[in-house]
Amino acid sequence: MYYPDEVVDQVRTANDIVDVIGQSVQLKKSGRDYIGLCPFHNEKTPSFSVSRIKQMFYCFGCHKGGNVITFVEEYDHLSFTEAVEALAGRAGIRLPEQEYSPQERRSRDEKEALLNVNRIAGAYYYYMLRTPEGKSGMDYLTGRRLTDETMKNFGLGYAGKHSDALYRYLKQKGISDDLLRQSGLMNVDERRGTMYDKFWNRVIFPIMDVNNRVIGFGGRLMGDGRPKYLNSPETKIFDKSRNLYALNAARRSRSGQLILSEGYMDVISMHQAGFTNAVASLGTALTQQHCALMKRYTDSVILSYDSDNAGVSAAMRAIPMLRSAGITPRILNLEPYKDPDEFIKALGKEAFQERLDKAENAFLFEVRITQRDYNLQDPDSRTQFFREVAGRIAVFELEMERQNYIDAVAREYMIDPRQLKELVLKALVLGGTSAGRTGTAYGGYTGSSPLQGSPAERTAVPGSRSGSAREQGEAAARKLLINYLVQYPGIYETVRRYLSADDYGDGVAGKTAALVYSQLDASGEVDAAAVLSRFEDLEDQQEAAQILHTSESTASAAESRKAILETLRRVYQAAPLRAGEGQDALSAAIQKKKNLESIRKINLILE
Ligand code: GTP
Ligand code: MN
Repeated sequence: MYYPDEVVDQVRTANDIVDVIGQSVQLKKSGRDYIGLCPFHNEKTPSFSVSRIKQMFYCFGCHKGGNVITFVEEYDHLSFTEAVEALAGRAGIRLPEQEYSPQERRSRDEKEALLNVNRIAGAYYYYMLRTPEGKSGMDYLTGRRLTDETMKNFGLGYAGKHSDALYRYLKQKGISDDLLRQSGLMNVDERRGTMYDKFWNRVIFPIMDVNNRVIGFGGRLMGDGRPKYLNSPETKIFDKSRNLYALNAARRSRSGQLILSEGYMDVISMHQAGFTNAVASLGTALTQQHCALMKRYTDSVILSYDSDNAGVSAAMRAIPMLRSAGITPRILNLEPYKDPDEFIKALGKEAFQERLDKAENAFLFEVRITQRDYNLQDPDSRTQFFREVAGRIAVFELEMERQNYIDAVAREYMIDPRQLKELVLKALVLGGTSAGRTGTAYGGYTGSSPLQGSPAERTAVPGSRSGSAREQGEAAARKLLINYLVQYPGIYETVRRYLSADDYGDGVAGKTAALVYSQLDASGEVDAAAVLSRFEDLEDQQEAAQILHTSESTASAAESRKAILETLRRVYQAAPLRAGEGQDALSAAIQKKKNLESIRKINLILE
């Protein structure tokens, strides 16, 4: 929904910034302004100031600042429109309504009605837990060492022994059978046309969306038996692949990262111990939508899956998905305990914090798990293992990343980093020659053949960026080639014989290439900072910086030469066919094929 500027201004001026921020941050008057502890970074002395006169806030520590709408956007992780809507609600301003089609209106009304049913059901379960009838539920939860406060924070409840208690309650509240059928709260006996409660004789975990609306329920048996948990089915308002348990609370935590676990009880235990940044998937496997959802709040996720085999494979699956959403995963090791709940019960929160601090880098975790399939005492198996590892290292786009992982793995397995580096270069080169393949795009982590597909292809993950794996690989090669031009300006003579600045595509890479080419034409060198200053947009600047960033190369001249020529070949191969003067397409194609061959034979001078 787009709101006109006057409406936005009206909403903004109706919400005094000191009042709004004062609801979430403790502010103290200091001169004409107010100061407090910044909610956007951790600090012990206040550097966050709010001005009533200017209606602005600014943090001298982390340099975040803006007006009241900015604050709500940042603090509640809302979009601009959502922030305007929240503030309008706060000030009692009616916003112009979007025109809905009758169909849209019906669907919206249905959702509202379902949320309402869940709200009533949640309140009912909550109430029941605190009655004499709910004693067994209360005993169970107390036995699991949950405090009253925790039970309240999570809205925990109890479904009694009668399988029609909720049904009767909701009927008495005037809810129609049709709505009950859609709510997922009832089991329907189609033959008899009767309905009874889905949850009975269980403790109840209401599941909320980020706006604290109850969208479904989980119910646990108070003891052993099967199924241990029952969960609401998916409904019009409950999409398990797009919601995470406790994200409504975790998004307010200031730790800067999320802990992702598997169980409701794990999350609750962690929150009770002060780790309020814990969330869990809803009894389903992690999806790309979950990852995108988390990415709204953080770049850093600590995976806390069970330490059994199932948990390890779930983590191996989750890692590339998180990466492709732009999140850096780390892995929590809770051994010898099974999950966070058990760990915290046994060793307490300080020990848990220590394990969090020591969470393992996801790549090293993957290597360690992969290693289980190989016997390092056996020479062949050992070589195979390091080839597999090299194939995975080759996937990383930046040379610096690759070098860091080469060093880390070499240290861990006590091998010569130069040998590993050789394998990595082999993997890079080998990948470059199979440009036609589009196959295993999923990080290549299928465990079958680590060297299948080119490395650049293997960095590509579906759903992350646009374009096929192959296109993404080609784009990566173009960026790499520009990077080589910055590093080794001497190769420009050769490169420009094959590629013009137009051959690097549009977008940031294309513009960077054009700037680099013109600088090389003019002076024979590249001034990266000058190139960067030609990008106005912050994100474009960052992308260009990634292309231009170089680190000292540890590769030998021969290795570098080989890698550069492979990259040149790849980019040239992907470049559009250009017929010369008086040349037809066929002879242009034949010429290109010859040129491609000739690249192999170039004796590149790096100085
Ligand atoms: P506790 O055993 O109470 O400590 O719970 P937990 O969270 O440790 O359970 P577990 O690790 O066994 O399961 C993790 C999550 O998987 C749960 O929180 C549920 O969401 C889901 N789950 C577990 N068991 C079942 C089941 O029998 N049926 C369904 N549908 N989901 C289950
Ligand atoms: Mn558990």
